[in-house]
Amino acid sequence: MSANGLYRARLLWFDREPDGAEDTEAFHYIEDGAIAVAGGKIVWSGDWADLPAEYSSDDCEDFRPHLIVPGFIDCHIHFPQGQVVASYAGSLLEWLNTYTFVEEQKYGDPDFAEAMAGRFLDMLLAHGTTTAVAYGSVHKCSADALLGAAVSKGMRIIAGKVMMDRNAPEALTDTPQTGYDDTKALIAEWHGKDRVEVAISPRFALTSTEAQMEMAGTLVREHPECLVQTHLSENHREIETVAELFPWSKDYTDVYDHYGLMGPKTLFGHCIHQTPREMERMAESRSVAVFCPTSNMFLGSGLFDLSKMRGTAPETRHAIATDIGGGTNWSMLRTLDEGYKVLNLQGQRYHPLRSFYQATLGNARAIGMDDRIGKLEAGYEADFIVLDKTSTPAMALRAETISTLSEELFLMQTLGDDRAIAATIVSGVTAHRR
Ligand code: GUN
Ligand code: ZN
Repeated sequence: MSANGLYRARLLWFDREPDGAEDTEAFHYIEDGAIAVAGGKIVWSGDWADLPAEYSSDDCEDFRPHLIVPGFIDCHIHFPQGQVVASYAGSLLEWLNTYTFVEEQKYGDPDFAEAMAGRFLDMLLAHGTTTAVAYGSVHKCSADALLGAAVSKGMRIIAGKVMMDRNAPEALTDTPQTGYDDTKALIAEWHGKDRVEVAISPRFALTSTEAQMEMAGTLVREHPECLVQTHLSENHREIETVAELFPWSKDYTDVYDHYGLMGPKTLFGHCIHQTPREMERMAESRSVAVFCPTSNMFLGSGLFDLSKMRGTAPETRHAIATDIGGGTNWSMLRTLDEGYKVLNLQGQRYHPLRSFYQATLGNARAIGMDDRIGKLEAGYEADFIVLDKTSTPAMALRAETISTLSEELFLMQTLGDDRAIAATIVSGVTAHRR
């Protein structure tokens, strides 16, 4: 397989978040488009009729009448939880203690982690996800396995081993020093290697001592090049426990703030129950709130309030993600659908053009990679997916009455899943074909 190629299909990508269907300046939609790829990057895109002779080829992949969009970006997913999905639990802490903290112990075995890493990435690709920000288990070898597999597949994956040194089984804890040392070693070995990066990953305040939080802060200061990921304000019992563990804190957000963990490189999963004070700090610090709708519904955590995020000055940055395995589906299409419902329950609208913006360029912006991924433009990395709006009988039935792009996108997010992904191209190589 070569990282060069020529593709023909309808094309859609965004330059910024659209206000709605009339905001046509925000996106590019090409009825009969071409993408030329060389060396894993897009070298030309535009109208098929305008394709320069130097890029024309007899070897064109003709995906008409399907729609090509940039590959989906999942901003919060757990590598060791592919076999935790669909575990019967009432709420977050029960779910963590009963299933997740048991399952994650398996990832201390490097052979097991390696075997699962390939399957995890294949699952992402089958669902049209080309980039993910992932949590490993506490074991360094889990992150090694995932990042190594990502390098082999040419994928842009950001991952870290979680740091956790209390309130978890012995086999799933590190210490402030080993958490620091292992994260340093991961950064030295992997950060910036091909397309992979390392994320500094204190799991959440509940499973870290003050000493470990200090060490996490030190890592963040020493490695400003790294993304930081953790969980924040997902569940009421979690929030109460954090208040008990850090009695001096103003609130949950203040714990991370105190240790220097807030900032434009930090992704906070969930952010459901934050107070106005916490929201102000989120906005001021330019931290990112990650909306995980299938997880929030499944674990009964609560409703992410997008209007609250938009109501701060400046607007609080946000992203959207599956949160497998608290989340119940690997598909960003399913995630957008559940996100729509969560917002609709609160009287908020989520236009499909905005959803597709968010799952592509919006999430790329949230992780500071919008200069490389999230568009179908010359110079961008050739990560894109082919969407088929007729991929199930129900979709084909509904598609008969569709006449606009917005309707097509809404159909795909409402009824679509992995079957709607006709192909996934990563670094210019077809990595998945339905
Ligand atoms: N909080 C701490 N760890 C986790 C996790 O694995 N999943 C979710 N949903 N929340 C968490
Ligand atoms: Zn999570």
